[in-house]
Amino acid sequence: MSTDRLRAETLAAIAAAASPDALEAVRVAAMGKQGQITQLLKTLGGMSPVERAVSGPAFNGLREAVAGALAVRKAALDEAALNAKLAAEQQDMTLPVALPPTGSIHPVSQVMDELAEIFADLGFAVADGPEIEDDWHNFTALNIPESHPARAMHDTFYIAQSPADKKLVLRTHTSPVQIRTMISQAPPIRIIAPGRVYRSDSDATHTPMFHQIEGLVIDKGITLAHLRWTLETFIKAFFEVDDVALRFRPSYFPFTEPSVEVDVGYSSKTGKPAGAGQVDKWLEVLGSGMVHPRVIAACGLDPDEWQGFAFGTGVDRLAMLKYGLTDLRAFFDGDIKWLKHHGFSAFDLPSISAGATP
Ligand code: PHE
Repeated sequence: MSTDRLRAETLAAIAAAASPDALEAVRVAAMGKQGQITQLLKTLGGMSPVERAVSGPAFNGLREAVAGALAVRKAALDEAALNAKLAAEQQDMTLPVALPPTGSIHPVSQVMDELAEIFADLGFAVADGPEIEDDWHNFTALNIPESHPARAMHDTFYIAQSPADKKLVLRTHTSPVQIRTMISQAPPIRIIAPGRVYRSDSDATHTPMFHQIEGLVIDKGITLAHLRWTLETFIKAFFEVDDVALRFRPSYFPFTEPSVEVDVGYSSKTGKPAGAGQVDKWLEVLGSGMVHPRVIAACGLDPDEWQGFAFGTGVDRLAMLKYGLTDLRAFFDGDIKWLKHHGFSAFDLPSISAGATP
């Protein structure tokens, strides 16, 4: 075949190749080991110098022309293939996105965080203790000796088969954290202790597990006035109100003397705690008092040197009052609909700090 014809046919085949595979077949047929142009170039070796002077440039020119045409065609086919792929993979951006399900923050967790933040601003640290507690920390050290009638007030869950010298209970209140803190930390002490507590009780306003938050201050020269100021400041910050009427009622707890129960003045008009003028209802919110000297002594401190106050309140109760929730049992049902409705988004927390400025 003449060089010109081979060139014409090969270039035509290149132009006609409709896919990268077809083009590769053309390349192999022309330039592969057995390809026509390769074979042609091999014949140069057997030629006389005169013949080679003519055929050499002609064959090499052919080879270069074909190689150039192959490269151009390959680039064109590759681009077409890429465009086809992009067109096929186009996404419809108008389709609604299926969002992954997101959780929410439980009102009780939310309120515990709010309380921790408020008390942090007042210089209180967060303390912790075990939920399975021994009899001594839960009762005896808190001035509730065995056979004391106050033990019956607590509807205690006892743990069967606990060691005889260390009867175990599910803690009935967060007050044992007072004891653990006074034993493990040197005063002055300012702590709160939020956590789960247990009593054998169940109806619309009682659940066998609920949440308390304990407060304890031990220092020199602490009086009821400090207790009153602290509670007033905390209640104003928590309920985000400027003024609040508090009623201190004499009460009894074995571990405080004197003991006071605190009622918050409430306005049924605003549904919020209110100042003296607007109060038409009182709600009991917490128990408190000056830490009993016997409790201070049980923790190895000298009650003549150290005094303090303590308080304990129900977190669930505070959550119900602040967020208008009615049935305590719903807190622990794990109903997704209830949680979605009353829970808090992790990305959209109410302004805690705004209410926490003392
Ligand atoms: N522990 C008490 C209760 O559970 C509350 C309390 C705490 C009272 C601290 C006084 C001081 O009812």
